[in-house]
Amino acid sequence: MSETFTKGMARNIYFGGSVFFFLIFLALTYHTEQTFPARSNVDQLTESVIRGKSVWERNNCVGCHTLLGEGAYFAPELGNVFKRRGGDEGFKPFLHAWMKMQPLGVPGRRAMPQFNLSDQEVDDMAEFLKWSSKIDTNNWPPNKEG
Ligand code: HEC
Repeated sequence: MSETFTKGMARNIYFGGSVFFFLIFLALTYHTEQTFPARSNVDQLTESVIRGKSVWERNNCVGCHTLLGEGAYFAPELGNVFKRRGGDEGFKPFLHAWMKMQPLGVPGRRAMPQFNLSDQEVDDMAEFLKWSSKIDTNNWPPNKEG
């Protein structure tokens, strides 16, 4: 084997390496795209969940809250609020009561505004947050309060 490292060898490593890792990148992208529907429970995207997402966006909840880590860090994470506040039995009544009682007006506590959402909008929001809590995120956030 030659002792010298030629330009041709360097070029082959550069192009060969680029093609190799680009192919790995394509394969991983394909794999991710294939697993999304199962991980995000696409089959459970009801009309109500979709309306709830629209209520979420129109009212800019993400301006204060995070949803699965995305958003602002002023107020609690809501990706798992469904599990934290009652789950299947308790969450919907909790959300109705919570939305009605804002702002709490407790001195020294961060306030959430009153949004005057209709009952239908709160129901849809509850469905959206329920659906969000079921996304398979490899158990993130690590604890219920997170
Ligand atoms: C101006 C900032 C702000 C906006 C916008 C906002 N929130 Fe909040 N939210 C808060 C704060 C602050 C708290 C924590 C209040 C407390 O504990 O007293 C909170 C708490 C909550 C909780 C209870 C969380 C828990 O862990 O118990 C829910 C549910 C909630 N918000 C839903 C919403 C929804 C739905 C929207 C959009 C319609 C929204 N919030 C928009 C500031 C905001």
